[in-house]
Amino acid sequence: MANNLEILILAAGKGTRMNSDTPKVLQPLLGIPMIEHVVEKSLNLKPKKITMIIHRGLTFLEKIYPKIDFIVQEPQLGTGHAVQIFVKKNKKIKNNLLVLYGDNPLIEEQDLKQIIFHLKKNDISLLGFEKKNNSSYGIIIENNNQVDEIVEYKDASAEQRTLKICNSGIMGLSKNALSYIFDIKNNNIKREYYLTDIVKISKKYNHSTKLIVAKNSSSALGVNDMKELSVAEKILQESLRSKALKHGVHMKAPETVFLSKDTKFGKNVTIDPYVVIGSKVVIGNEVHIQSFSHIENAIIKNKVSIGPYARIRPGTILNDNSKIGNFVEIKNSKIDKFSKVNHLSYIGDADIGEKVNVGAGTITCNYDGVKKSKTKIKKNSFIGSNTSLVAPVTIGKNSIIGAGSVITKNVRDNKLALTRSEQKEMRYSRKNKKK
Ligand code: UD1
Ligand code: CA
Repeated sequence: MANNLEILILAAGKGTRMNSDTPKVLQPLLGIPMIEHVVEKSLNLKPKKITMIIHRGLTFLEKIYPKIDFIVQEPQLGTGHAVQIFVKKNKKIKNNLLVLYGDNPLIEEQDLKQIIFHLKKNDISLLGFEKKNNSSYGIIIENNNQVDEIVEYKDASAEQRTLKICNSGIMGLSKNALSYIFDIKNNNIKREYYLTDIVKISKKYNHSTKLIVAKNSSSALGVNDMKELSVAEKILQESLRSKALKHGVHMKAPETVFLSKDTKFGKNVTIDPYVVIGSKVVIGNEVHIQSFSHIENAIIKNKVSIGPYARIRPGTILNDNSKIGNFVEIKNSKIDKFSKVNHLSYIGDADIGEKVNVGAGTITCNYDGVKKSKTKIKKNSFIGSNTSLVAPVTIGKNSIIGAGSVITKNVRDNKLALTRSEQKEMRYSRKNKKK
């Protein structure tokens, strides 16, 4: 535990530049909300306390993170204002404060550790990063290796805008620096209280600010709009793919494969081009996922083959040696060992035993418009093509369902069941057919 460190995460901004009804910090990144990335990094630093500044629409986060303190900031008058209300609420500040932004999900632990380290001898430590064509970030103004101030891009002169070190927003504030937080005023273009003004104020008190330049500039990426969200996703996807490749996952075209932060792989896994793996997917050994498949919240055991063009939805368990073929959708179902659903089927809320063959076009009718019901198919059964299994229904073991049947009643073990109407042959005349 960092014994004199607290973390403050600023997440109350409305995120209007996102142009989305979803609050900015809840936008998904690698399949989890953006704020989750920041919380995880905060927890890794083992601080004494974590506080998050939020707007009213995020109060439900209190239930998700019971160990974090929450403060609602209404109205949101700027990053400086957010820290001011934190200080107001915590009158006796005993610790150093690391300020993180909820929209800074790529921040790297090595940079955070530097910031914390340099707070030992400085009032403020600051994470800057190099950027060639800055058009939005605050600019760090230095003089003789001393940080003079941070000027917001909108407030900067043309000359200041040519400077290369930008402000990441990540900042370490000592107890001292926090004591003059209320000196921050809102005399700027946006009429906001800028946290960044603390640097200039600290200089007035003859205190020092240490600038740390991020090792990788992507660590400082601020996500304000959908474009930046896509850049963040791209960077993180690339690092997940590298990890998977290192682990031995065979991908011919890794750049077309999308993974989630929590994707788990066994040994000898092959993923063909254009596959999307959503969150909570566990993949065993010798699994082959073919092109254009989409998998989410599912357990794939060993020697399973999926796709091409398969959709594996939440709650699915595919047991050893099972095979899911093209244009098959599986939802909330268990497919047991050596069973096959090879073509054009929908299997929902079903429990399929071992060595079952589900013929092409089989549909589990699991929803009657009101409730969902279960389908059970016991081991060694054979479901003929184009069968509708109207749930709730159970097919016994070693049974056969004739193709084209609509099964509405349970079928016992070792039976052949079919509901097909009889085939008839009739004479007919083509005499009147026009030529
Ligand atoms: C901020 C910095 C800028 C820096 C950039 C890095 C200031 C004044 N500017 O600008 O120098 O280059 O980040 O990404 O700090 N927030 C609150 N309450 C508020 C306002 C914002 O909690 O009243 C939160 C937001 O949710 C967000 C973070 O603070 O997570 C930063 O706010 P944002 O409006 O995105 O600041 P930028 O304009 O990006
Ligand atoms: Ca921002």
